[in-house]
Amino acid sequence: MEKQGYAISSWPDEKEIYKKMERLMADSVYHVKPEAMEGYLGYFETKCAGSKKMIGEAKQYIPGGVQHNLAFNYPFPLAMAKAEGPYLYDVDGNRYVDYLQAGGPTLLGSNYLPVQEKVIEVIKECSPCPGLFNEYEMKLAKIIHDNMPHVEKYRSLASGTEADMTAIRIARTFTGKSKIIKVGGAYHGWSDQLVYSLHIPGTQRFEAHGIPKEVSANTQEMWPNDIDGLRKLLEGNQKDGGTAAVIVEPLGPESGTRPVARDFNAKVRELCDEFGALLIFDEVVTAFRVGPGGAQGYFDIKPDLTVFGKIVSGGYPMAGGVGGSEEVMSCVAAGVNPGKPKAYVGGTLSANPMSCAAGYYAIDEIVKLDAAKIAGENGDKLCKGLQTLIDKYDLPFVAWNTGSIVHFEVTGAMYLDAADPDILKKIGQRQHALEEFGAALTANGVITLAGSRIYTSMADNDETIKETLDAFDRVFQNMEK
Ligand SMILES: Cc1ncc(COP(=O)(O)O)c(C=O)c1O
Repeated sequence: MEKQGYAISSWPDEKEIYKKMERLMADSVYHVKPEAMEGYLGYFETKCAGSKKMIGEAKQYIPGGVQHNLAFNYPFPLAMAKAEGPYLYDVDGNRYVDYLQAGGPTLLGSNYLPVQEKVIEVIKECSPCPGLFNEYEMKLAKIIHDNMPHVEKYRSLASGTEADMTAIRIARTFTGKSKIIKVGGAYHGWSDQLVYSLHIPGTQRFEAHGIPKEVSANTQEMWPNDIDGLRKLLEGNQKDGGTAAVIVEPLGPESGTRPVARDFNAKVRELCDEFGALLIFDEVVTAFRVGPGGAQGYFDIKPDLTVFGKIVSGGYPMAGGVGGSEEVMSCVAAGVNPGKPKAYVGGTLSANPMSCAAGYYAIDEIVKLDAAKIAGENGDKLCKGLQTLIDKYDLPFVAWNTGSIVHFEVTGAMYLDAADPDILKKIGQRQHALEEFGAALTANGVITLAGSRIYTSMADNDETIKETLDAFDRVFQNMEK
């Protein structure tokens, strides 16, 4: 264990990962053999008829028939009926090992009974949202503070997107500066100013349809790990109103899909101090998953602001929040501080007792049961098994993990070069290969996050890990270039 109480047993060698990724990107794209793919598609036709019918009907009322960005839509999305511990069950009764885990927050496994029972008690007593102060708002803020002491004050919001939006607004209010620097490829929700260079560094406004250009005029990007580049941006901004904040996902963009060096965050902290910019840690995925102290505890870094998401309601609805020092957070005090500059935020359903109680009890259990560490051990076992399979079939795929966040790159879609004139064609090609790979895994009983990431939980065990590795084994046998 690299650091006591944390899920990451050893920091992955990012240079080695980048080297392997270069080799993967230089190779032809691997795909599932057509004859095997036919069999996997046959699974969907014969075993998932209920999902197919439901999605067909949903298409009449919902754009594309599905609401979730993280759903696999190929050959069609599956309709889920039940979630329990490490498993999901679709409407046709098929069982899947679940590594999406609601996008990460269900570290205890899905529908963890002791939390569910408390939530039901709270709803019965005071309704999901009476609209005024409830003790669980306080309990949630306190338990976050107890584990992450740099979060002196905490403001509940409704989503990670809102929390990121709020963090940059607070940073601008506090510093009086405008520029925000993010890391290319990172996701900080879908607000107007942060839909900028998503997934692939350098893609800038690629996905900013419907967002006026001037809205992202103060959003800039640095390359992952490029500390010199960050210094240059900060220096440039000094002559142009200054930098309000640098915002990072502390493991690297997309939960570490492009991993950062072990000392990256400390160097960013130093530069922020030198240039008077705030450091924002987006811990939507890492808070409590990396360990009770979050990534900031693991790296021993004090961010000025911390962004939280789904974990602060343990995977129940309405989950987000932002926290930081008393001084910085005073910019966002509700209904007080007349005359002082205030970052305006709100949300009728924010801080509702149901979500706050769910978050409070989930975090309490996660800490008491050492869930992050257990999930991290499951991630280690899974990653080791994946590497064995990659070696067994001599495939160029790349697998690594930081505790319970396991990455496995089969097509490297997020490693494409934004400057490549053929990028759109290549994205299409790699996305399709990835969709087929994801469908093949699903047909073998395993659901991942977008075919390249796994979030393990405390509910995984040797049996689920074996089921998973057997599924990967069957699919890897059927890959060709
Ligand atoms: C790092 C990060 N920030 C922000 C968000 C946005 O959170 P939400 O989906 O709650 O808006 C996500 C979502 O997964 C995320 O991974």
